[in-house]
Amino acid sequence: TYVVTDNCIMCKYTDCVEVCPVDCFYEGENTLVIHPDECIDCGVCEPECPADAIRPDTEPDMEKWVEFNRKYSELWPVITRKKDPMPGYAEMDGQSGKLDKYFS
Ligand code: SF4
Ligand code: F3S
Repeated sequence: TYVVTDNCIMCKYTDCVEVCPVDCFYEGENTLVIHPDECIDCGVCEPECPADAIRPDTEPDMEKWVEFNRKYSELWPVITRKKDPMPGYAEMDGQSGKLDKYFS
């Protein structure tokens, strides 16, 4: 599966949602997640993210993000249409530790 990771938080470019063939992106207040059981591993969303926030779970230390994506995809509504990114997204893009700083 692919999952959304830290750098989506407070940016939410949403380019990713338009290309997903199975509509498995879900939207929270300041980040998106992918449902790991619905994702068919096609990989087309990965290069669409300007923040490079979408990663395959085959990369090291991704267990935490798979669990994060699974948990919130069960709670949040699906998103299939691109919208404006969050205010201040350019300044937030690339900051480290956004999960701890901004996600509650
Ligand atoms: Fe959707 Fe494919 Fe991205 Fe999975 S890898 S979230 S199926 S676009
Ligand atoms: Fe987030 Fe990147 Fe999509 S910033 S909303 S994962 S395009």
